[in-house]
Amino acid sequence: MRDVHVRLRAGVVIGETDPRLFGAFVEHLGRCVYGGIYEPEHPTADANGFRRDVLALVRELAPTIMRYPGGNFVSGYNWEDGVGPVGNRPKRLDLAWLSTETNEFGTNEFIDWCKLAGTEPMLAVNLGTRGADSARHFLEYCNHPHGTMLSDLRRAHGWDAPHGVKLWCLGNEMDGPWQMHARTAEEYGRVAVETAKMMRWIDPSIELAACGSSGRNMPTFGAWEHTVLEHCFDHVEYISLHTYLNNYAGDVPAFLASPDLMDNFIEEVVSIADSVAAGKRSGKRIMLSFDEWNVWYRTRRNRDERTLPGWPVAPPILEEVYTMADALAFGGACIALLNHADRVKVACLAQLVNVIAPIMTEDGGPAWRQTIFYPFAQMSHFGRGRVLRAEIDSPVYDTTYFDPRGEQDLYFPVTAPYLKLAAVQDQNDGVTLFALNRHLTEPMPLIVTTTGLGAKAIRAARSLHHPDLNASNTRDAPDTVRPAPLDGASIGGGTMRATLPPASWNVIRLG
Ligand code: AHR
Repeated sequence: MRDVHVRLRAGVVIGETDPRLFGAFVEHLGRCVYGGIYEPEHPTADANGFRRDVLALVRELAPTIMRYPGGNFVSGYNWEDGVGPVGNRPKRLDLAWLSTETNEFGTNEFIDWCKLAGTEPMLAVNLGTRGADSARHFLEYCNHPHGTMLSDLRRAHGWDAPHGVKLWCLGNEMDGPWQMHARTAEEYGRVAVETAKMMRWIDPSIELAACGSSGRNMPTFGAWEHTVLEHCFDHVEYISLHTYLNNYAGDVPAFLASPDLMDNFIEEVVSIADSVAAGKRSGKRIMLSFDEWNVWYRTRRNRDERTLPGWPVAPPILEEVYTMADALAFGGACIALLNHADRVKVACLAQLVNVIAPIMTEDGGPAWRQTIFYPFAQMSHFGRGRVLRAEIDSPVYDTTYFDPRGEQDLYFPVTAPYLKLAAVQDQNDGVTLFALNRHLTEPMPLIVTTTGLGAKAIRAARSLHHPDLNASNTRDAPDTVRPAPLDGASIGGGTMRATLPPASWNVIRLG
């Protein structure tokens, strides 16, 4: 491949990454909670039943915010079922995942777990089967200090101090026909605005995210966001986006180009939000909460595969096994998020443990890392700061990202540069390059010119690649795919040179 050039200049900046850009998601789904973060019988469990081995990997992954309790689950959830003495909590049918929910783990346990994990809680309210009244009561239970029935109930349950949860989702994917009590944009816009008003009257310090449509390929996309924001504009800070990248076509180059469609998706939602602002003659800017994103396809080819018969408790569903190729597409998604730091202020990797997850547990053994663990952890550790606007001169390839099964309305021709890159300047003026070489067979000679950034040394350079793009980590071979040093990177006169292996994700830190 010919030389690929990148130019970075001090002060030419896209935006500052919000700490909440590095979030994840815990849903009552499959073995994410039960057998994932919570398993009292496990040898590593603490007195609360939280798995310490999972907590250690969560801290290493370093998610900054954690969305809970769903997802589809929240659209049928009664928050009251999950608080109070565990022995009194009801078992319920969960119609989202056709399972039995024991409610052994609920909001208060989640808040305690977040403290141990060092992450901020982000709660969703049920605007499916319930609505504004239940949402306001849930907020009062969580955040009101004392002196009312619900705040004193929390204290009687053993949590004296208010939880102080700042960020709240107004429902989940409310346009999806799979959702319990899906709604039209008008219906949702109305219930969301009334819920938002009441919640803010209770606690003016909260921030609220309205549901965008559940994907860019939904027939509702666009008109939904517009209508919802027409209703909610003055009452919310965020509109949500969800994307799951896939390789249904078995076409790796197309799959690796798919994160570029996240770039388009983000820019489209920004345009819609700003057009609503313009219509209202408002200078307010609605920010984006990309509160579900990941690679996900193998474990949901049809509805039957998301369920097991007999209403099981915590069935092993949606347990995607991630390959090297998946980690590359995932890394591309990380770059898409970083490069929109000016408008994407919240993002949640969906999900955290076992269910489409970077962390896995199996049969009582120790927890281990999937391939996608590494790009996320590196992004969270080194992606904090000012994202520089990179000028990239890279050869490109043409491909089409589509769903050959015809189940999803996906057909996007893309012209993708072989290099996808984000550059983040940290508070110590170090610069981290996140660089994806999408060429499957050719190494990439990368030349990065920095102006005014004081880059004089390579602090670290690591590469994630494997000759077999289908390679994955397992409990018995947990280190098959892991980052290794990237040899040969050099810097002189402000110009960095490195050769990126074919089909690789690279993190190069300049200081
Ligand atoms: O993350 C899995 C599911 O995907 C969530 O429950 C839902 O919101 C989305 O469709």
